Amino acid sequence: MTPRPHPTSPRLPSAHLLWGAAMAALLGCTPASKAPAGSAVDASLDPRTAVALPAEAQQAVLAEMRALLDAISNTLAATAAADTTALLAALAPAGSAAAADPGLEALLPPEWHALAERTHGGFDSIATAVRRNAGAPGLKDTVLVRLAEVGGACKACHEAFRVTVRPT
Ligand code: HEC
Repeated sequence: MTPRPHPTSPRLPSAHLLWGAAMAALLGCTPASKAPAGSAVDASLDPRTAVALPAEAQQAVLAEMRALLDAISNTLAATAAADTTALLAALAPAGSAAAADPGLEALLPPEWHALAERTHGGFDSIATAVRRNAGAPGLKDTVLVRLAEVGGACKACHEAFRVTVRPT
């Protein structure tokens, strides 16, 4: 038996949420009253660290993200087809050379940089392995193992951060 009372009671979190909303309303700081468009998400609904960016920078981050998803998808397709040329073409847009421009990077927190480097470096390391082992029988497994590691960095960052738009 656990010493905590009603550990799974659904009433506890909802009471907490209501209390938080009531306090926020009392203090005049509900997201709807203060936050600009695009960032009106209550921290109690999404507790990830909000990184507030100018609108263009926020869009640049999301565009880079979609490019990363493209890279994963294209990498998997090229790996399944054992097509080395397509594999290198799929990996390149997600490598360090194609990473965010320095002006945008300066707006992002240090923990973000570490996870971004792990992601881009992971794609670089897959490309290196592909060049070294082109045509080798174990290449498919190597790509999959390293791609799974990259996926861990994607997930870690998505669990830690969200982006919002701040007024310029
Ligand atoms: C350093 C942090 C970080 C890393 C690493 C990262 N992401 Fe993201 N990603 C984000 C954030 C922050 C968002 C926005 C989430 C939000 O605001 O709710 C996002 C959003 C996205 C989106 C949605 C884009 C849109 O248009 O809405 C996709 C797709 C995505 N990421 C794919 C990936 C993939 C695939 C990887 C790994 C290969 C990856 N991301 C790695 C931080 C990261």
